Amino acid sequence: MTASLRGTRIVVSAGPTYEDIDPVRFIGNRSSGRMGFAIAAAAAQRGAQVVLVAGPVHLDTPAGVTRIDVRSAAQMQAAVLAALPADVYIGAAAVADFAPAQAAPRKLKKSGDGDGLVLELVRTPDILASVARHAPRPRLVVGFAAETHDVAHYARDKLARKQLDLVAANLVGVAGSGFESESNALTVYGAQFERALGPAPKTQLAGELLDLVAARLPRTQRDDVRVDGTLPVRTPPDRAP
Ligand code: C5P
Repeated sequence: MTASLRGTRIVVSAGPTYEDIDPVRFIGNRSSGRMGFAIAAAAAQRGAQVVLVAGPVHLDTPAGVTRIDVRSAAQMQAAVLAALPADVYIGAAAVADFAPAQAAPRKLKKSGDGDGLVLELVRTPDILASVARHAPRPRLVVGFAAETHDVAHYARDKLARKQLDLVAANLVGVAGSGFESESNALTVYGAQFERALGPAPKTQLAGELLDLVAARLPRTQRDDVRVDGTLPVRTPPDRAP
């Protein structure tokens, strides 16, 4: 049975952010946005009211999803916070960690004398941590962790440091997984919880991740109804998957 998310409001962030250097150049990354869009699509299919805050990506808006397009980390943070309150926030965006201190108003020119260029970079706001500290706080705050090594260590550190409920971690740089791939393999960490998902298409992983989310929402916030209209047997929360 697919867990229903009817009656819940879910905010998802997806894709990269672009931090402008000047009117023609930016700092960005290779995130395709596919994982976050798949989560938004699956959540809407399960009846959730979904707001998808998307960085610059080439993807169609999933059916039934309200999409807000942004470019920079600062814009993404403003859009995400404006979309609260929500029951669930899923930060699947690959937010740039640094942005130029100031975007140059005009195109930077080569000096011609062979000199390099020094850019002053500043930290971008940590959107996930700001949502986890926001009042009212979403009942569930879920982050992603893309790591090249020591995945469990960094994921558990993120869980504690950013005060998250779940972290979905994946190993980047592995064939058939990660940023630009259609499929992925995730390990989901929570307090005293660990579950390996996939390798599987991102659309399937999105559904499996939402099952873990739904199992952590109070029963009153969602209503599972079988296709025949009958109510399913409830699993006590301490036996949630
Ligand atoms: O610490 P790290 O950047 O690896 O954490 C990744 C997680 O944090 C992702 O869920 C990402 O969306 C979120 N994040 C954020 N704001 C940032 C950096 C990362 O929300 N500035």
